Amino acid sequence: MAADLETIVGDIVATIGSADDRGSVASYIPELAKVDPGQFGIAIATADGDMITGGGCAVGFSIQSISKVFALTLALGKVGDQLWERVGREPSGTAFNSIVQLEHEHGIPRNPFINAGAIVVTDINLGGHQPRVAIGEMLRFLRYLAGDDDIAINEAVAASETASGFRNMALANYMRAFDNVRHPVDLVLGAYFHQCAIEMSCRQLALAGRYLMLDGRHPDGGRVVSPRRARRINALMLTCGHYDASGDFAFRVGMPGKSGVGGGILAIVPGRASIAVWSPGLNASGNSHLGTLALEELARRAGWSIF
Ligand code: DON
Repeated sequence: MAADLETIVGDIVATIGSADDRGSVASYIPELAKVDPGQFGIAIATADGDMITGGGCAVGFSIQSISKVFALTLALGKVGDQLWERVGREPSGTAFNSIVQLEHEHGIPRNPFINAGAIVVTDINLGGHQPRVAIGEMLRFLRYLAGDDDIAINEAVAASETASGFRNMALANYMRAFDNVRHPVDLVLGAYFHQCAIEMSCRQLALAGRYLMLDGRHPDGGRVVSPRRARRINALMLTCGHYDASGDFAFRVGMPGKSGVGGGILAIVPGRASIAVWSPGLNASGNSHLGTLALEELARRAGWSIF
């Protein structure tokens, strides 16, 4: 299979990776608007231990909302299923930064992958500490998962979002009014913006996602989460990982996946592969345009849709 995968990845880089229609880079975070949309990378970590890569697979990019998967994993480790008293498990059908449902739903976000949900998850991860403690924990976790110490925060991106993150400030303040954000809002957002500003390459991200293809195990034999928790995180990625385009992603690709406005997508084929793709141009729902096309093609040719 690895030989076939090399061919598939080579074809994807040659065709999709160089397509003319690349979507538009996120502009609401000014620092992200500076990223060259001509870039494309892909990395596949297989359950057999192979790594198949193509394009700019070693170029670091802002993982943005993909960090929500790892933040959720950490928060579940701290408070277990009590987390679900403060965050729902349903697709929202609204944009990633929407506030509309919070008023009717008592400040309880629909799921942990929309911004509101991730802000509550970050509040849980703070656990009474300063943001730098939670951020340090997140970086250590990612370095352990990827087996790579060269993972860091892009401070310019964090500062850019801090200066322009008015919607997230509104969401956090609104949920604080419902007592669903319990630390001071600036501390919660400080941790949230920095975790979104972590930079990783496709290669590092595919490695970090391996526990989700391996029933919760780290390839070194350690247990990251229980098999049940890994299944549930994958279920949430499938149903909520692409916001109001989650149904379309399941239809076209058929893998649990989590996107970020930096143009990355982490996709999991349980028992088989952890895949990261990156192309900075986004579609109208805020998900990587070429990244989605690449995963659609990979799923089709490798037979990797879970359906
Ligand atoms: O909070 C924000 O708006 C960004 N830091 C993350 C949003 C994001 O990645 C949405 N993904 N497609």
